[in-house]
Amino acid sequence: MCGIVGVLGKNEVAPLLVEALKRLEYRGYDSAGIATLDGGRLGRRRAVGKLVNLSDLLVHDALAGKSGIGHTRWATHGTATVANAHPHQSGKVAVVHNGIIENFRDLRAELEAKGYVFESQTDTETVAILTRAHLDAGMTPIEAARETLARLHGAFALCFLFEGEDNLMIAARKGSPLAIGHGEGEMFVGSDAIALAPMTDTITYLEEGDWAVLTRQGVEIFDEHNRRANRGATKIVLENTRIEKAGYKHFMAKEIAEQPIVLADAIKHMVAGNALNPPAEVDFAGVDRLTMVGCGTAYYACVVAKYWFEQIAGLPVDVDVASEFRYREPPITPNTWAIFVSQSGETADTLAALRYCRDKAAKIVAVVNVPTSSIARESDIALLIRAGVEVGVASTKAFTCQLTTLALMALKAAVDRGRLTPAELAQHIADLQALPGLVSQALRIAPEVAVIAEELAEAQDILFLGRGPLFPLAMEGALKLKEISYIHAEGYASGELKHGPIALIDARVPVIVLAPRDALFEKTVSNMQEVMARHGKVLLISDAAGVAEAGAGCWRTIAMPSVPNFLAPILYAVPAQLLAYHTAIAKGTDVDQPRNLAKSVTVE
Ligand code: AGP
Repeated sequence: MCGIVGVLGKNEVAPLLVEALKRLEYRGYDSAGIATLDGGRLGRRRAVGKLVNLSDLLVHDALAGKSGIGHTRWATHGTATVANAHPHQSGKVAVVHNGIIENFRDLRAELEAKGYVFESQTDTETVAILTRAHLDAGMTPIEAARETLARLHGAFALCFLFEGEDNLMIAARKGSPLAIGHGEGEMFVGSDAIALAPMTDTITYLEEGDWAVLTRQGVEIFDEHNRRANRGATKIVLENTRIEKAGYKHFMAKEIAEQPIVLADAIKHMVAGNALNPPAEVDFAGVDRLTMVGCGTAYYACVVAKYWFEQIAGLPVDVDVASEFRYREPPITPNTWAIFVSQSGETADTLAALRYCRDKAAKIVAVVNVPTSSIARESDIALLIRAGVEVGVASTKAFTCQLTTLALMALKAAVDRGRLTPAELAQHIADLQALPGLVSQALRIAPEVAVIAEELAEAQDILFLGRGPLFPLAMEGALKLKEISYIHAEGYASGELKHGPIALIDARVPVIVLAPRDALFEKTVSNMQEVMARHGKVLLISDAAGVAEAGAGCWRTIAMPSVPNFLAPILYAVPAQLLAYHTAIAKGTDVDQPRNLAKSVTVE
């Protein structure tokens, strides 16, 4: 994981590095650090914890210089300590790294045998010391970096800075994305274009195995065989990336509240009057099968979409968590479309799954929030979910926008496969257009949820139940809760409860049942009764009719607005989000940056 940045600038570089790191903090916040060249000499400042700790350190212990590199860390090898924080320096070289050097143990043993001493437990320090060893052997910095890169296995994005070389920076990519930014007499390196947005909008993306030699005058790029490569530059149009809480206590609260607006925007971009208006290439007529892949919340969006594509469009769907997908080596039949769902578009496992499908699937489709992301750039069709910048680590508005985009795709598939009459389509579209209003109404349950959350915060274990397309919502509710409140929670298919999990039920285990009054409601109510017969505390979340019919005997009930069955999974994301948010508030955890997590997971 981790975010890296490098600047060969005209002005003092430390503030620019910190600003870029702020934009990369979504990749990790276990520690942060920068190194600069001042009068040709390397200086470093590193601090454990969030970026603000590094900023505070720099106030008291400033770092001058116009060339520098920076890093924000999500710990992989070694705990979050100053010694393990990047940049890692050895002699005249400093290095920042995103990814994992898989052969670092062998390299470390080899270097220790030569007498080099390591200060950290990281894989990255091996890169710094190996480069130093090459410098000690008389190589130039460029030769030393090139020879080091040739010895590394694994996935990495790297940026090197050398003492005495104020106009030189070396960057390399293998597996982890890296962007080169072009300025007037300045050059930049960043894990993504958004990090560089305040400094430049002209970006060159390195390709697999590329390495680049940067000076203030420009960049020379070499491919994995050390041949000169011409990668070209593109102008990036970035939406307003100002990141503010706008009066909310947390980004998560703001992002939950924004849902009516962003959902309306997502729908507006895919609907024209009574018809669907997706990009022209989206035509499911010859498609036999979908394979859908994502991680975490994005995976749950895929699971909901499976119900939609299969029920409405009659199109079979396979769904996988990305980390399992490619190692399973699934056969991909020729008329299969592979759909990758990712908010960030940078999730390493999802990107690897996409690459696995590249020459196998008929089309690679990305459902992403960040248009400049690797997953968006590497797909045949990139469908933007239009959630706007999502900062809170717990994904909220991106989930409902993913679902909305996938619902529209399922309708398009149904139309293309002759499964929907124009009247039925018109009804679905009208329902979708009413959805933002229903989400606004649903948000009004927040005060009730806050009261219930005070009690949920006392629980050690919480179960979520749902049936049909509400089953993935149960899993999403449990994920959200554990992610930010640190309470153990699991989501189950209601009917699966009696096959094991019911053994957990006693008077201390709240069971949250997501059950709109639909065709499966009676069956879910039976499962609820089974819980209550064992003194379980049931929180029933249903519509007014469902609460009236089955609320008696429940510990608590929440009445949601009525919603057409098709759209219930989107609306029922709201109580799941609010329960997690208010429980986290009651527990006093760090809502936007919960422990051990990062917004974007860029390592396997
Ligand atoms: C959601 O609350 C989580 N933070 C996490 O599961 C996330 O959805 C997952 O890591 C996938 O991220 P992506 O959508 O950026 O690929």
